[in-house]
Amino acid sequence: MNDAMRIAPSLLSADFAKLGEEVTAVIAAGADLIHFDVMDNHYVPNLTVGPLVCQAIKPYATVPIDVHLMVKPVDALIPMFAQAGASIISFHPEASEHIDRTIQLIHAQGLRAGLVLNPATPLQVLDHVLDQLNLVLLMSVNPGFGGQSFIESVLPKIEAVRKRIDHTGRDIWLEVDGGVKADNAQRVGSAGADTLVAGSAVFTGGRYKQSIGAIRAQALLGQEGRWASRPEVA
Ligand code: DX5
Ligand code: ZN
Repeated sequence: MNDAMRIAPSLLSADFAKLGEEVTAVIAAGADLIHFDVMDNHYVPNLTVGPLVCQAIKPYATVPIDVHLMVKPVDALIPMFAQAGASIISFHPEASEHIDRTIQLIHAQGLRAGLVLNPATPLQVLDHVLDQLNLVLLMSVNPGFGGQSFIESVLPKIEAVRKRIDHTGRDIWLEVDGGVKADNAQRVGSAGADTLVAGSAVFTGGRYKQSIGAIRAQALLGQEGRWASRPEVA
């Protein structure tokens, strides 16, 4: 795994008729995680895949499966995805009646827990739970569909979450999801993201290695610039 800048291809833009091959191909092309988007036609308007499909791809996934739940309610699906081979489960606070309990349920399954903030979700939802999280996932599109345009106003939000995470001193990943491509990855890296989801930018065109490499290279450029412009920490 490339821990400086992790790339998580979203299977939403893969060929669903040959998902196992697609997983193998993106891992060979450098994927650090497999991003698995679960939509329920209730919390979001789209309908995708569940634990059965997660279990089916698990034998091909030699990297962690990063499950992004866009479902309401959340809790009953957690043991099912744990059973199906998930390593990380992230959920939206709007979809859970008891955010703290849902995080505990994920940890009780031995998995890493992430909270997902939509473009308009305020950062206050992190106030009392950040220390329990392994991952903050910032949406840079409204959830529901692949192939949407990156929402620029999320950039300062990434910076603000980066500061909060740094303040904890803990190894909490900062993942950004939606409309990420080589064109904007430098700005996303510069704002402080360390994990980038990319669906259409990886799978469209079929040149997975080149696409993943270009996104990572741009994001690392942004990250280096960020470190260079950082004030000295005593
Ligand atoms: C959107 C999903 C994303 C999506 C990303 O609701 O959570 O993971 O698949 O796709 P692109 O990279 O095409 O925006
Ligand atoms: Zn996603």
